[in-house]
Amino acid sequence: MAVTYESIKVCKQSGARLGRVHTPHGVIDTPVFMPVGTQATVKAMTPEELKEIEAKIILSNTYHLYLRPGHKLIEKAGGLHKFMNWDRAILTDSGGFQVFSLGDLRKITEEGVEFRSHLDGSKHFISPEKAIEIQNSLGSDIMMVFDECVPYPAEHSYVKNSLERTTRWAKRCKDAHRKPDQQALFGIIQGGMYKDLREQSAKEIIELDFPGYAVGGLSVGEPKSLMYEVLDYTTPWMPADKPRYLMGVGTPDCLIEGVIRGIDMFDCVLPTRIARNGTAMTSVGKVVIKNAQYVEDFLPLDPNCQCYTCKNYSRAYLRHLYKAQEILSARLVTYHNLYFLIDVMKQVREAIKKDRLLDFRKEFFQKYGYEQ
Ligand code: GUN
Ligand code: ZN
Repeated sequence: MAVTYESIKVCKQSGARLGRVHTPHGVIDTPVFMPVGTQATVKAMTPEELKEIEAKIILSNTYHLYLRPGHKLIEKAGGLHKFMNWDRAILTDSGGFQVFSLGDLRKITEEGVEFRSHLDGSKHFISPEKAIEIQNSLGSDIMMVFDECVPYPAEHSYVKNSLERTTRWAKRCKDAHRKPDQQALFGIIQGGMYKDLREQSAKEIIELDFPGYAVGGLSVGEPKSLMYEVLDYTTPWMPADKPRYLMGVGTPDCLIEGVIRGIDMFDCVLPTRIARNGTAMTSVGKVVIKNAQYVEDFLPLDPNCQCYTCKNYSRAYLRHLYKAQEILSARLVTYHNLYFLIDVMKQVREAIKKDRLLDFRKEFFQKYGYEQ
């Protein structure tokens, strides 16, 4: 098997899992946050910088790389790792989520999804088989099945039909996979916000026997409390000896709450996206660097942070860069935000080791300014 989960321990206080995910491109300590590199680059970060901040795995996107530069070109280059000069692990999302976000530009049938490119309007068709062909060409360590991420809110009958099609597509993805010894294919559990449908989807997808499982269709606009409730009943159905991935999440509080509910892996564009808008995640909450209050603030972005940005630059300087629209602003704030989230996960792993993750949550939320 290309990817395996090694359990190290379960936190006695919270039930959170400490483990390792073994991949063809290295071992990943879990729980882990995966920076997003949609276009075969984590925006504003070189692979060398990603290694400095101890990123062990990044996420990339089938849909974008298929449209540009094309998966055949990346295959010719020797695969995605070689193409982008990243020799650690890569997870690719299947395109399901991106294609479904296109709204009016797409049409779903049993066969797959027809859509128009967001780049030039050209017509394309992605089937489960095509999504696997693309990911086989890219050579990612972890591939995702082609699924439908159902919007919120949605009718019970719509979600049921959709999850049953997602199961049929998952089976087709598994049958189309040409390199199961080199690349792991993860299943995705859907079912919206309905307990019976989450149970049905979990049963059907787990029955197909994948080396890892994701929870999809969350963080789609529902209240956080509802997402936690869905996780509360979904993760207990997931096998304990396989990695568990919560797709598209996100904020520091959701990461911690997800880990407490038994999740091992997370990804989100949030830290990199808000960095480019001049917002930092810090140990004392968000810092919006363009705000006038930082004009003469010569403290680091986060006084408790040991990253390159915080060791060398002040809020006043970062504010100046942002106001002057200098690209260094995006680079330095992105560097900090990813360092911060990866460091939060390191602290989470330490807390699990010491059986004190609930205490850690309380301390972290108090400092960050989250309601409890
Ligand atoms: N990213 C965030 N949510 C989802 C989901 O439900 N499916 C897929 N494929 N990707 C996602
Ligand atoms: Zn920092």
